[in-house]
Formats: sequence, C-alpha cells, structure tokens
Amino acid sequence: MNDEMIRLFRPTFDVDACLAELKDCLEQGWTGQGFKTDRFEQEWKEYTGLENAYYVNSCTAALNLTFDIFKEQYGWADGDEVISTPITFVSSNHSIALAGLKPVFADVDDSFCLDPEDVERKITDRTRAVLFVGIGGNPGQYKKVLEICRKHDLRLVVDAAHMGGTFVDGKFPCLEADAVDFSFQTFKTLATADSGMLCFKDARFEKIARVKAWSGINTAAYSDYAIKDHKTYKWHYDVEYVSNCYNGNSIMAAVALAQLHCLERDNEIRRRISAKYDAAFSQYPDKIKLAAYAPEVKSSRCLYQIVVEDRDGLVKYLNENKINSGVHYVDNTNYRMYAYGRGTCPHAAYLSEHMISLPLHLHLTDEEVDRVIKTVLEFVNK
Ligand SMILES: Cc1ncc(COP(=O)(O)O)c(C=O)c1O
Repeated sequence: MNDEMIRLFRPTFDVDACLAELKDCLEQGWTGQGFKTDRFEQEWKEYTGLENAYYVNSCTAALNLTFDIFKEQYGWADGDEVISTPITFVSSNHSIALAGLKPVFADVDDSFCLDPEDVERKITDRTRAVLFVGIGGNPGQYKKVLEICRKHDLRLVVDAAHMGGTFVDGKFPCLEADAVDFSFQTFKTLATADSGMLCFKDARFEKIARVKAWSGINTAAYSDYAIKDHKTYKWHYDVEYVSNCYNGNSIMAAVALAQLHCLERDNEIRRRISAKYDAAFSQYPDKIKLAAYAPEVKSSRCLYQIVVEDRDGLVKYLNENKINSGVHYVDNTNYRMYAYGRGTCPHAAYLSEHMISLPLHLHLTDEEVDRVIKTVLEFVNK
C-alpha cells in the first residue's frame, strides 16, 4: 500500500507555460494591472461567453465590489435584504454584510445549492437580490432561482468561485445573472495563487468597479503609461470614492493565462475521478448520498462531496489511513455573526454535520482513488 498522505487538494501548474508568461512580464517590466490582466480578461470573456470581465485580486474582492456597487447604483438602503445560502465560504455572506445589507438565509436542496422554493418563501418587501453559490461547480437549480428573481424584480448575483469550467449544453450556465464572480485561488479549478474575476452584465458597473478597485482613482495607469508608447505618467487624476485596492496584477494573470489553456483538460480529469467515485459510492444509497447533478451538467468538479451518517468518524478514519478530507462548508448560521439565521435552514444544518469532501486533484493516481474508495466503504460498511 502507498504510505503517503493523500492530499485533499493539490494544484497543478504547466510550469513551462507559466514561466514563459512570467518571463514576459519581467522582461517587459510590467507586473501590475494591465498587460497580462487585459489579455486574461479578454480570454476569459471568450471562454465563458460573459460580456464583461474585470480581473481582481480575489473572488472576495469581486463580491465586495458587486454588492457595494449594486447598493449604491440601485439606491438600496442599509438593512435591505439579500437572500443567500448558509452553505458557502463565509466571504460570500460577508460581502453582503460589508455593504450594509442583511444576508437572509434560505435552505439548500440536494445539489447543496439554494432551494428555489425556500428562496421564494424568504422574500420580503425589503429583499433586493439573491446570491446563488454554485457549490463544487454545480449550477443546481439556478434556472429556477433566475425565474424567481425575474418575477420579483430582484438582482441575481452568482458566486461562481467553484464554477470555472462548468458548462451546460456547451454554455456557461449563468449568463443571465447581473453579476458573476469567480475565484482563481490556489485550490480552485483554475489555480493561480490568489485572484478572481468580476463579470457584470451591465458594462456601466464594470466602469465603476475599475475606479473603486484602485482606491477610487479615476485614471488607469496602464492606459496612460502604455508599454508601447511610454507617455508621461499622469498624476492629475481625481479621486471619486473612498475605496479599497482590489485590482489584479500581471504576475497572477500570467499564471492564469497559462492555466486557462489547461482548464478543459484538467476539468475532464476531475470529472473522470468523480465518475469513478460516483460509480463506487452510488451502490450504497442508504449509506452514502451524493450531490444531485442534472445529467446535462458538465461540472468543473471543484469539489467531490458525499453525505454520511458519521461524518466526524469518517474524517478520523480517513486521517488514520493517511487520507485528508474537508468540509465545505460549515453552516454559516453556526457563526456568531450570522447566528440570527440559526434554525431557519434545517437541511443546511444537517449537511453541515454530515457532509465531507474527498480528495480531488490531478496528482491523484488510480491507485490512490481506489484507496480512498476502499477506505470510505470500509468505514460506512463496518
Ligand atoms: C464559494 C466561495 N466563495 C468565495 C470564495 C472566496 O474566494 P477568494 O479566496 O478568491 O477570495 C471562496 C473561496 O474559498 C469560495 O469557496
């Protein structure tokens, strides 16, 4: 038996392609915003079919900008509500709260994404938007959530941190959303170190985001001091907002460009490993529940999650057998900041205690996948 610890996540890089893009940055003397970030934005739009794309330093930054700009531009008041999921990384919900809005929690369905019926139940006269999170790369019942948003005139924001490379019938499934925010953090399907993409439906909002993401300064350095023509740097800019520094840089974008060219191949490998897990675990439906996927979904498979009765016991058993696992995520209403939502989402509360993520990355050998399967089955069948 292979004695090495099997890691939960481990990013893969095409080292030569990354180094070639990085060398270009260093030789040109341009590591900041512009140059590679412009190219990556263009290529991301072509890859996803989204109309706008602004490269930022994380998905968290993209989400923060989204709610900040929507609140300001749509004239929402402090305390207006955004319906969101408790099963997500906490920065999804922080982005709502940081804008002075209130996350109102709706329950999740068997895809671990928002349950449209509960979303509709949670709408009040203060609801302004819904934040849909595509957990693990699953679009869940996004279409139904979109219909609800249209019916009630609510904005729809998609946290697509896990959805880099998810397609349905050859298209990115959330093209209609008002904003789609991606993560290229090291454990996502397109790994850099830290970066993200903010894709507004309306180009006017992207223009505002570009100003807000650079401390509120209204001149882009790259356009005024382009590598090509070496103009004099303009310091006579205005500052339009009190704002953060959220912009992406060419070092991360260089890695992202190299990674984008591998994304389809890499996600295909993730899907193959997931299919192998599915085939083994689906034979024990009374002991192991899988995330519900519609058959037409080609998921990025950012995560592979199962639901078992004794989750904590399984984590321990896997660890004893040198297999790392994780939980994505703890019900956010368990946290002090969101405790007001406790008890409102029973399925999320259940999943939070029973859900486990298994190793899924490109370094896994067939033998290691078999070892994970064998160990999980040994535990649940004991
Ligand atoms: C669902 C979800 N949303 C948002 C984020 C934040 O992404 P980033 O680390 O790029 O800020 C993450 C990262 O783990 C995530 O999993």
